Amino acid sequence: MRTVHLRTTGATDTRLLAAAVAADLRPGDVVALTGDLGAGKTVFVQGAAAALGVTGRVTSPSFLLRRDHPGRIPVVHLDVYRMGSLGEVADLGLDELFDTGVVTFVEWGDAVRALLPPDHLEVVLRAAPDDDHRDVTLEARAPGWAGRLDALVAAGRLTPWAAPAGADGAMERA
Ligand SMILES: Nc1ncnc2c1ncn2[C@@H]1O[C@H](COP(=O)(O)OP(=O)(O)OP(=O)(O)O)[C@@H](O)[C@H]1O
Ligand SMILES: [Mg+2]
Repeated sequence: MRTVHLRTTGATDTRLLAAAVAADLRPGDVVALTGDLGAGKTVFVQGAAAALGVTGRVTSPSFLLRRDHPGRIPVVHLDVYRMGSLGEVADLGLDELFDTGVVTFVEWGDAVRALLPPDHLEVVLRAAPDDDHRDVTLEARAPGWAGRLDALVAAGRLTPWAAPAGADGAMERA
């Protein structure tokens, strides 16, 4: 697994990181967001969606489970936190989504990893005890996204959010 360890300080910073990642997103991509409750998953999706040309308001789909946003690249935002079973999630018609011209974000996507394309990006957000920053890990489990993460790092696009030296798993160099 390829991992890149980063840190964001404040919600605006989380949005900026998301926009930097989103600059590399293309139709068909799937991004799972995981980690701690209230760590900034929805904020990350807001930043990414704005960068993909979504002008509408992106709010948590917690009770609706799915929201569709038109954009330069259309965005589908899922939150599977309240889903009872994998079957229920399968009923959302994910397979069809992943093959179409949208970018899909799945909050709590690790719970439904078996239903996601193996080559997806996982963004893990962890809250710090003092609550003033978030440790953000980008994870790729397949060669496609591993290579894309390497390229993002090599291009310096993630450098502003490099975890401080000595922090748990500071940003790896390609
Ligand atoms: N880097 C950061 N430092 C401090 N606070 C942050 C950071 N990023 C986001 N936040 C804050 O975290 C809070 C929760 O954000 P958000 O609702 O996006 O979390 P979530 O992971 O989607 O929550 P849930 O688990 O309920 O879906 C917000 O108040 C947001 O401003
Ligand atoms: Mg949320």
